[in-house]
Amino acid sequence: MRLRPWRSVLYVPGDQPRALEKARTLGADAVILDLEDAVAPEHKDAARENVTGALRTPWPSPVLVRVNGPGTPWAETDLAWVRGAGADGLVLPKVEDTAALQGLPPGLPLWAMVETPLGVLRAAEIAAAPGVAGLIAGANDLARALRTRPDPARTPLLPALSAVVLAARAFGKVPLDAVYNDVRNLEGFERECEQGRTLGFAGKTVIHPQQVAAANRAFGVSEADAQAARDLIAAWTAARAEGRSVATYRGALVEAMHVEEAQETLALWEATRQDQPLA
Ligand code: COA
Ligand code: MG
Repeated sequence: MRLRPWRSVLYVPGDQPRALEKARTLGADAVILDLEDAVAPEHKDAARENVTGALRTPWPSPVLVRVNGPGTPWAETDLAWVRGAGADGLVLPKVEDTAALQGLPPGLPLWAMVETPLGVLRAAEIAAAPGVAGLIAGANDLARALRTRPDPARTPLLPALSAVVLAARAFGKVPLDAVYNDVRNLEGFERECEQGRTLGFAGKTVIHPQQVAAANRAFGVSEADAQAARDLIAAWTAARAEGRSVATYRGALVEAMHVEEAQETLALWEATRQDQPLA
């Protein structure tokens, strides 16, 4: 099973040459070079040029580009530009229907941001659309639109976050969790990563170098997890060899779907083992 990890996906402001340079070295599973929210109107042209330059040399991981949305003064220029830019994927902000996915460069995987109430309500049809590789939850815009109150546990956003996971998983697409704004609060970030992982997200979008390793850990596979997966598969194989239909591992029932889950765990472990400690 070949699996691409999406544990940490780093936003990099297109108008920050230093950050664009640094982003190559931070160990994120993918990056999003941003022309949208992270870039002020007067810097949009410079950001596009910086990103053009950044895409000229190879990156160690997939590079997605986030363009400005339809209806903004930069949308047309961004979309014409991105056709030849050499990105590995296109991130579209505030997608609310499948019409927003029409007329885009063919062959470029699309990542739809679900960050408005309508986007959440239509997440399933967006996820089902051809060309869509994944859904990205956008908590800042969503919280604003819903008039929720700040809540470290994200309770008011949980239905929307789960809707994003449900829609993406229903169509075999990758669900990515939203950013955590308080870049100095690593403990809070780790808690939110655990929550995202529990909800079923494949990884987290991150905004600061310090968040990368924590996201890789939370959405990755520890050596202990990998060993447990191997042991579960061994228990299953032994039980089946004895003619039994199901097995137990550490006292709990093991069925075929647990074996598939363990195989997926091992595939992610394989795909990310270069950043496992050697010991
Ligand atoms: N990608 C790559 N490098 C980054 C980075 C990012 N997202 N954010 C910070 N860095 C780099 C800085 O360039 C700096 O490099 P240097 O010390 O080698 O010069 C280093 O990391 C430390 O940065 P720091 O001073 O701690 O950050 P800050 O306080 O200046 O900025 C933010 C904090 C949140 C404003 C900044 O991290 C940022 O702009 N993040 C991205 C925001 C974004 O993309 N938003 C849109 C999506 S929600
Ligand atoms: Mg936004």
